[in-house]
Amino acid sequence: MGAVAVLLLAAALLGVAAKPAAAQSDLCFSQLQVLGSHNSYHQAPPQELLQAFGTLTAGPLLAWQYSHPPLTAQLDAGVRAFELDVNWDPAGGRYGQAAGLRLAGRPGWLDDPRYQQPGFKVLHIPDFDFHSSCLLLTECLAEVKAWSDAHPAHLPILLYLEVKGAGQLEEGLGAALLALLQGMLDRATAPGPTSFIQVPDTTAQTFRDLQGELLSVFCNSSSPHGQLLTPDDVRSALGAGPGADLQQLLLRAPGQPCPWPSLSSMRGRVLPILILRGGSSQAAALEQAYPGLAGSVMRAEQGGRTPLPQAAFRASAVGRLGGGDDLLLDLPANASAVAAALAQSVRDAVATGFIVRARADADTVEARAGFTGRRDAIIAAGPQIVATDFLLPANQQRAQGSSAALYSTGYNVTLPGGQTARCLLNLTGTPAAESVPMQMVAAAAGDGIYCGPLEGAPPGKVAFQPESAAEGAVAGGPPPAPETGAAPQPPSSAGSAAAAAPPPPPGSGSITSGQPLVAIAAGIAALIVAVLAA
Ligand SMILES: *[C@@H]1O[C@H](CO)[C@@H](O)[C@H](O)[C@H]1NC(C)=O
Ligand SMILES: *[C@@H]1O[C@H](CO)[C@@H](O)[C@H](O)[C@H]1NC(C)=O
Ligand SMILES: *[C@@H]1O[C@H](CO)[C@@H](O)[C@H](O)[C@H]1NC(C)=O
Ligand SMILES: *[C@@H]1O[C@H](CO)[C@@H](O)[C@H](O)[C@H]1NC(C)=O
Repeated sequence: MGAVAVLLLAAALLGVAAKPAAAQSDLCFSQLQVLGSHNSYHQAPPQELLQAFGTLTAGPLLAWQYSHPPLTAQLDAGVRAFELDVNWDPAGGRYGQAAGLRLAGRPGWLDDPRYQQPGFKVLHIPDFDFHSSCLLLTECLAEVKAWSDAHPAHLPILLYLEVKGAGQLEEGLGAALLALLQGMLDRATAPGPTSFIQVPDTTAQTFRDLQGELLSVFCNSSSPHGQLLTPDDVRSALGAGPGADLQQLLLRAPGQPCPWPSLSSMRGRVLPILILRGGSSQAAALEQAYPGLAGSVMRAEQGGRTPLPQAAFRASAVGRLGGGDDLLLDLPANASAVAAALAQSVRDAVATGFIVRARADADTVEARAGFTGRRDAIIAAGPQIVATDFLLPANQQRAQGSSAALYSTGYNVTLPGGQTARCLLNLTGTPAAESVPMQMVAAAAGDGIYCGPLEGAPPGKVAFQPESAAEGAVAGGPPPAPETGAAPQPPSSAGSAAAAAPPPPPGSGSITSGQPLVAIAAGIAALIVAVLAA
């Protein structure tokens, strides 16, 4: 195993006040910052589709111009948080059309047979922005499970699932634009649909079906949930009863004792987290399916200001640089001020104790301008998850079926030093990222943890290069990452993809069982304590 984590004793030379660390035998889950991808499956639509709309609709559509490598390649490169948009399709066949193509003068029926299979489809906006590296949710999940099985000591993988619901096409495009598009569709002559797809209303059954697909991939003969870390697992690890409120258990301001189960016990685990943009009606449906999240493998993220029961995760700084509801692709004059305001909202959420997901960029604005101010402010503000559309540098991204680069800038997002994760741990023992020059805070190598000055950190991962032996990997890992931007793969039976995954190595984790890196992590924690007490 590579990447033996090292704590530089140079930390002792920093001259920080010696003060006993809070009692902890391990780093805390909330003290780590990892890189995430936004709409992790997304592939930029073909240029011809955009061109068909001319300047009228170019704004919103240009915000879709980003492509991610396949999930496996992202995991290899250190990404530990995904976001998948899940569109309910219990009978199959609901999403097998593309009115957008018909508007562009091309046939509007999609012949990929996977669209006809029942089950959630992973895509951004039906009819328009539907290119996905893993169209079936079960395909995406099987990739995550196979990688997790092959790397049992990995840091927790956060699997955000945005549950698409009725009315989201209108919300995404705006009522005026949608009416205009319907008018164009009415006049279109190419074969295909005459109306746009409506995503079904979210009901309790939506969540039961979603859980069913998660379990169909992750369960195994000895564990009904496999490596999924459930809300009940967390309660039980904390000695709380089945109905206990996760917010009360887990929201702890930085500096207070770690509320989470030990990080070592969370290694190798996958945490599904629901993004409920549909607000209270979706939350009510979830509550109906799994009251108090009892029996659920999923927990929910709080998005807006309305408090959401049980939510210990929070989205922050998803705002647009352009401000308001206008989608402006030009950098505003006060971009730095807006970025600073977004970063402040991250600090506020972190200070409340949430596990915070924040986006370093949105709508491709930053990539077009080469503006890194938002990215740098967000990373420094200390959210646990920094999400981006630009894991791949902007000037290496291409639209479907095109060889031309979409952008002239090299805008991209990595954590400092290219690390997989870094500690948000102030070297006095107080997690207070905002008060610390980040270079002095910490870094993590591979999935081993390093807390110390960045200059002394082991080399980080370089995004999306072919890797020899991935750090933290065990033998038998997945093959090298395939080319990025690949067209959707031929239909495969997703359930059998999971069944064909290599069996997990022995000793991969339950919340109470040991992990290969426990000793290392515990050793680091002991060293930190020793340094601090010196
Ligand atoms: C089932 O999953 C658990 C949790 O990941 C793992 O510890 C166990 O080894 C797996 N068992 C089998 C038979 O795959
Ligand atoms: C940035 O400018 C816009 C438009 O002038 C304004 O509405 C907004 O409040 C400004 N934001 C900040 C943080 O200064
Ligand atoms: C990625 O971003 C970093 C930091 O802004 C920059 O130094 C680097 O050149 C970028 N990569 C590419 C390929 O442009
Ligand atoms: C760590 O946090 C404390 C309290 O917030 C602060 O006074 C101190 O300056 C921080 N340490 C460093 C190295 O910045």
